[in-house]
Amino acid sequence: MSVNERANFGSKIGVILASAGSAVGLGNIWRFPSELGSNGGAAFLLVYLLCIVFLGLPVMVSEFLIGRRSQANTASAYQKLAPGTKWHLVGLMGVFSAFLILSYYVVVAGWTLEYTVAAATNSFSQGTDYTGFFNDFVSNPWKSSLYVILFMLLTHVVIIRGVTEGIEKFSKVMMPLLLFIICVLVICAFSMPGASEGLNFLLKPDFSKITTKVVLSAMGQAFFSMSLGMGCLCTYASYFGRDTNLLRTAASVGAIDTMVAVMAGIIIFPAVYSVPGLSVDAGPSLVFVTLPNVFNIAFHNAPVLGYIFSVMFYVLLVLAALTSTISLHEVVTAYIHERFKLTRKAGAYIVTVSCTLLGILCALSFGVLKGATLFDMNLFDLFDFVSAKFLMPLSGMLIAIFTGWYLERKIVRDEVTNYGTIRMPLFKLYIFLLKYFAPIAIMTIFVNELVK
Ligand code: PFF
Repeated sequence: MSVNERANFGSKIGVILASAGSAVGLGNIWRFPSELGSNGGAAFLLVYLLCIVFLGLPVMVSEFLIGRRSQANTASAYQKLAPGTKWHLVGLMGVFSAFLILSYYVVVAGWTLEYTVAAATNSFSQGTDYTGFFNDFVSNPWKSSLYVILFMLLTHVVIIRGVTEGIEKFSKVMMPLLLFIICVLVICAFSMPGASEGLNFLLKPDFSKITTKVVLSAMGQAFFSMSLGMGCLCTYASYFGRDTNLLRTAASVGAIDTMVAVMAGIIIFPAVYSVPGLSVDAGPSLVFVTLPNVFNIAFHNAPVLGYIFSVMFYVLLVLAALTSTISLHEVVTAYIHERFKLTRKAGAYIVTVSCTLLGILCALSFGVLKGATLFDMNLFDLFDFVSAKFLMPLSGMLIAIFTGWYLERKIVRDEVTNYGTIRMPLFKLYIFLLKYFAPIAIMTIFVNELVK
C-alpha cells in the first residue's frame, strides 16, 4: 500500500471492538480493582462512573473527531487541522507517551503471560509462598526479559498484518473471547463463599469515603482506562469510515470498558473475601500475589475448578493486555510510516525493536537495575510517571482545549453530526464540558499528581 492510501476499518463492529480493545486492558483488570480496593470500594466506583460520563466521553469524542477529520497519524493530525501553529506538539507528545507507556506496560503484560504458563502447568500449589514466587520472577533478569520479548513479538505479529487484516480481524476474535471468559468467571464468582461480602464492598457505597484523594484517583483511573491522551483513539479514528457515528461509538466503548472493569471487581472481591485474612487493599499485588492464593485455598475441595478458574483468569489478562499493546504500537508505527515515508513494516520493526529494548530495561529495574534511579524512581516508575501521570493528563487537557476553544465550531459540529445527517441533542453540553469542565478537572488531577 502506498503511503498516501489509508487503510480503513471494514465494519462498524470492527471499529467498536478495536477501540474497546485499546481501552480494555490491564487498567481494567489489574489497576481498577487495586485502586478501588485502596480507595474505599463502592464510593470509588460511583465517582469513577461520573468521571467516565462527564470527562472521559467528551475527551474520547474529541480524539475521535480529530483523527477522523484529519485522516492522519496523531502528530500530523494537529498539523493538518491547525497548520502553522504549535498544536502539533500535542500530537507528538501523544506519540512519545504511547512509546513510553508501551515500554513499561509490556513488562506487566509479560507477567500475565508468565502467570498463564504458571497456572497452566499447575505451578501454584498448596503452600506456595506467592510473595516469594512473584518477587523471584520479577527479579529474575532472564525470565522477565524473555516474557517482554515474547509479548512484543505477539504484538508485532498483529501489527504487521495491517489495520484491517491485523488489528480489526484480531480484535473481532479476541474481544468476544475476552467477554466470554469474563462472563464465565463472573458466574463462578457468584458461587464463592465470600460473594455477598465482596459484592457489598463493590456495590454498596459508603459516601463518607469520598475524599479528594478518591476523586482524583478515580479521574486518573478513568483516563488511563479509556486510553485517552496518548493518541491511540485518535489514530484508530483516522481509520473510521465517514459514516461512523462518533458519539455512539464512544458511548459503546465507554460502556464496554466500564462493564469489564466492574466485572473484574465482581470476580476479584468475592474471591478475596472467600479467604479469611486476605485484604482487599493489597494494591497492585492483588492480582499477582493475592489471587493465586485465593484460587488455591478457595478451591481446595475442587482443584480442577480452581485450575480452570485460574488459567482462564490469566488468559483473560493476556488478551486484555494484548489488544492494548497493539493500540499503543499502532500510534507509533502509523507515525513513523507516514511521517518518514517508510513502509509500515519497517515502521513496525523499528517500534518493536526499540520498545523491546526499553521494555527489558524496565523489567530489569525490578532486579539487577533496582539501584539505577533518577529522581528517586527506577526506570519502570519513571516511565509510568512521565507518561501516565504527566504527559497523559497534560495532553488530555490540551485536547479538550483544542476542540472546545481552538477548532472551528462548524468542523466539530460536522464531525459529530456526520455533516448534519445524525442528531446530536447534547451538543451544547458536550462543548460546555470540553471548554470548562474537562480542562479544570484534568488540571486538578495533573497538579495533584505532580505534588504527590
Ligand atoms: N486503556 C488501557 C488499559 O486500561 O489497560 C491502557 C492504555 C492503552 C492506556 C492505550 C493508554 C493507551 F493509549
